[in-house]
Amino acid sequence: MRITVLSGAGISAESGVPTFRDDKNGLWSRFDPYELSSVQGWQRNPERVWGWYLWRHYLVGTVEPNAGHRAVAAWQDHAEVSVVTQNVDDLHERAGSSPVHHLHGSLFDFRCATCDLPYTGQLPQMTEPALEVEPPGCDCGGLIRPDIVWFGEALPEGPWQRAVEATTTADVLVVVGTSGLVYPAAGLPELAVARGTVVVEVNPEPTPLSSSATVTVRESASTALPTLMQRLPALLN
Ligand code: APR
Repeated sequence: MRITVLSGAGISAESGVPTFRDDKNGLWSRFDPYELSSVQGWQRNPERVWGWYLWRHYLVGTVEPNAGHRAVAAWQDHAEVSVVTQNVDDLHERAGSSPVHHLHGSLFDFRCATCDLPYTGQLPQMTEPALEVEPPGCDCGGLIRPDIVWFGEALPEGPWQRAVEATTTADVLVVVGTSGLVYPAAGLPELAVARGTVVVEVNPEPTPLSSSATVTVRESASTALPTLMQRLPALLN
């Protein structure tokens, strides 16, 4: 059986990584998240944007994958599993999932905002959140930015193509921990529904996908995912 998982911030919430829309992490909570995840926000205040991403880069290093991530990785023992994630953390990988297609980039990749060269140099140390941090410089004179897809930017072609392929060849699409508000990622479940693929939504809250999903499981990821495959036949009847 081929299972494709489309995950969002909700699968990492129980690991202690705030979801995008309720990340009330003190220092930056007064800023509109779009202000911190857009080219305009970067151009207006690169130090603030860099501070926010650097803090989350370090935060993710201090947390662990949860039972939801581990369940998805364990499915690989019995099925062909592809993970497509909107998340920029590495918790799926650290739980053992492979491949993991990152639609919105990663907190662990950086590049020059001017010449696009990948940056593998030193990062400023950060033990406490600091509102603004000077980004490192590139030899070309540009500033180093997170290699993350900001609002208004195109998704990386490779991961997107692989995500569409994983969605259109899946027997089951499990959509977990996403509000389903951001396209084109939110279009993947619609593609699966249109093809008659079994679509299972796992989310404690309703989303725009809930009405068209084959099954909606109103539970958290770490509660639902460990037993989901055993429960699936009963859920589908
Ligand atoms: N288990 C499962 N789902 C959860 C849990 C949990 N423990 N906790 C919260 N959720 C759900 C919420 O109900 C919500 O529907 O996770 C979803 C989180 O939604 P968002 O914060 O909007 O995150 P996401 O859907 O990943 O955002 C998509 O938009 O914010 C940008 O680029 C950013 O990748 C992000 C994209």
